[in-house]
Amino acid sequence: MHVATPPNTSNTSLIDLAVEALRRGELVAFPTETVYGLGADASSVEALKRLYQVKGRPAEHPVIVHIRSAEQLADWVEDVPESACKLAEAFWPGPLTMVLRRSRVVLDQVTGGQETVAIRIPGHPLALALLESFGGGIAAPSANRFGKLSPTTADAVAEELGPDVAMVLDGGPCKVGIESTIVNLSGDVPEILRPGMILADQIEKVLGTPLRYHGTGAVAQTTEASQQSDASRKVVDARTPRAPGGLLKHYAPRTPMRLVSASKLDDAVKRLNAEGKRLAVVSFGLHPQKWPNVVWVSAPTGSVDYAHDLYGTLRHLDSQRCDLILVERVPESQEWTPIRDRLERASTTGSMSGDQT
Ligand code: TXA
Ligand code: MG
Repeated sequence: MHVATPPNTSNTSLIDLAVEALRRGELVAFPTETVYGLGADASSVEALKRLYQVKGRPAEHPVIVHIRSAEQLADWVEDVPESACKLAEAFWPGPLTMVLRRSRVVLDQVTGGQETVAIRIPGHPLALALLESFGGGIAAPSANRFGKLSPTTADAVAEELGPDVAMVLDGGPCKVGIESTIVNLSGDVPEILRPGMILADQIEKVLGTPLRYHGTGAVAQTTEASQQSDASRKVVDARTPRAPGGLLKHYAPRTPMRLVSASKLDDAVKRLNAEGKRLAVVSFGLHPQKWPNVVWVSAPTGSVDYAHDLYGTLRHLDSQRCDLILVERVPESQEWTPIRDRLERASTTGSMSGDQT
């Protein structure tokens, strides 16, 4: 396995090697601006089979196809709608995935047998160079094993997947840090299936129409209890269980994690400390001197920086052999929605169970 950029090898020849590996049906991990992807030739049944095997993901779970230009949409999508062109123009290359009606050539192994396909143009120069040289679409889920945290550095990928990938292209730490926003344009009303750092408001502004799910809480759930928990959500329909919001519990560290409001954090630490628990805390506040034994992370107060650091922080805390990670709840405002979504999925107290992509 090649990791990183050897000093005497140019990016160009590394990309040539990566393209050869993809053409042989092997897997290549590559950086995107969101998280690292585990790439396979999206038009090879064998490569996709290997992808699902290495990822440990159920076969009916669809993957995102990465392309290099909006013109390529026509290869993958039946009748590209006007809305897709508008969003492509506004946000690609960038952290937005669109779910559209698939064209006939798209393999069932990509879509999980559904009539839709998820597509995006990633905004990382190495990813774009790889796509340009490869020519075709690259199917890429996040480069973690099923149910684990998405990796945001090449080292995290190598640690997680080891020799199961032919190559890891190292493009440095991912700028955004959490997965792309997924918007479904295949139905009559556009809706957000997974919140990301491109926010509902930004998408609505470009489309000029309201989204069905506006992103006021964690992404729409299919359980009755969670539907009732957010009265401000416009509509929660019974979406396919394969959509990322339909099945829950993922992006999780191994260490149990709980969300605690700022006002209860001090009491919670006191009580759990007294019980002899080894604690990690992610808080907006500084490390109080009275808790010297607690592994403390002071989180950035801005949502962009918070998202950037999130998975790296959780990975780090996972290696600290703590009994529990307490995470201070983040603000309720829209720019924190994708972060709340990830935190609720990762935590053991969220009302969630299920999905692990
Ligand atoms: O930022 C990202 O989107 C990263 C980078 C690598 O591009 N990729 C990523 O892929 O997060 P993955 O496979 O971990 O998550 C993709 C999500 C899955 O939850 C899957 O269910 C959903 O996209 N998805 C894929 N195709 C779909 C479809 N046709 N309809 C609905 N959801 C779909
Ligand atoms: Mg994933």
